[in-house]
Amino acid sequence: MASGPKLVRSNRLCVLVLWRPRLSPPPLGETQRLSAAQVEAAQGQVDENHLLQRLYGVGFEELQVPNPEMRLFLSLKREVDLLELERITTAVGWRPRPIRRVRRALRHSLMVVGVWRHDPFFPRLVGFARCIGDGVINATVWDVVIHPAYQGAGLGHGLMAFVVGRLRAMGIEHVTLFADPGVIRFYQNQGWEVEPDNQRCCFWYAS
Ligand SMILES: CC(C)(COP(=O)(O)OP(=O)(O)OC[C@H]1O[C@@H](n2cnc3c(N)ncnc32)[C@H](O)[C@@H]1OP(=O)(O)O)[C@@H](O)C(=O)NCCC(=O)NCCS
Repeated sequence: MASGPKLVRSNRLCVLVLWRPRLSPPPLGETQRLSAAQVEAAQGQVDENHLLQRLYGVGFEELQVPNPEMRLFLSLKREVDLLELERITTAVGWRPRPIRRVRRALRHSLMVVGVWRHDPFFPRLVGFARCIGDGVINATVWDVVIHPAYQGAGLGHGLMAFVVGRLRAMGIEHVTLFADPGVIRFYQNQGWEVEPDNQRCCFWYAS
């Protein structure tokens, strides 16, 4: 018999017959019973997800790394400590920027992503990227960085895949970034196209 709402005409009265799913669950059979260990494991999973969501916010993702004793998470929501960020950017040799300006830049960014080494009490920032843009058509990625102690383990790749995935989910059509010459291959390996020399790119510097 077909299921779903049905219209039954009775003389001139229109009666809406609603199909309702059975509300009470079927009785538990032998195969549906969970062992105490399974219940405990399921509860543990719920507790862990709860903890991770509290630390990293909605939409966090775990990065797979070769070291099984280390867990790393990508987060759009966990607030980035600017001194920690500066520690990373200094470690890769970038020129320091006034913290107050960085704070404002992050506040005005379309997306700010932190890579966190997991600790239930003190997660450590080990990587970062941010995007600016209109949130609809165009975005530009800036400040992609992984702390030197964590480089070469796939974090940079995972970070960029996360960023591009989130921009794609917003419906963004074009993403650009300005790579340092030594890092172009890193992006090319992930499918980014290098703009043909001196064809389309223009820069203006205030000083
Ligand atoms: C560039 C950077 C983010 C890459 O992070 P990472 O975690 O080391 O990268 P991954 O481990 O995911 O490496 C992915 C691949 O890119 C390659 N790669 C990494 N850094 C590279 C670099 N500087 N130049 C060329 N290739 C690089 C790796 O060899 C690896 O290749 P494989 O997949 O063939 O093995 C990191 O090296 C970094 O922070 N550098 C300093 C800051 C910087 O230059 N940022 C980019 C500004 S445009």
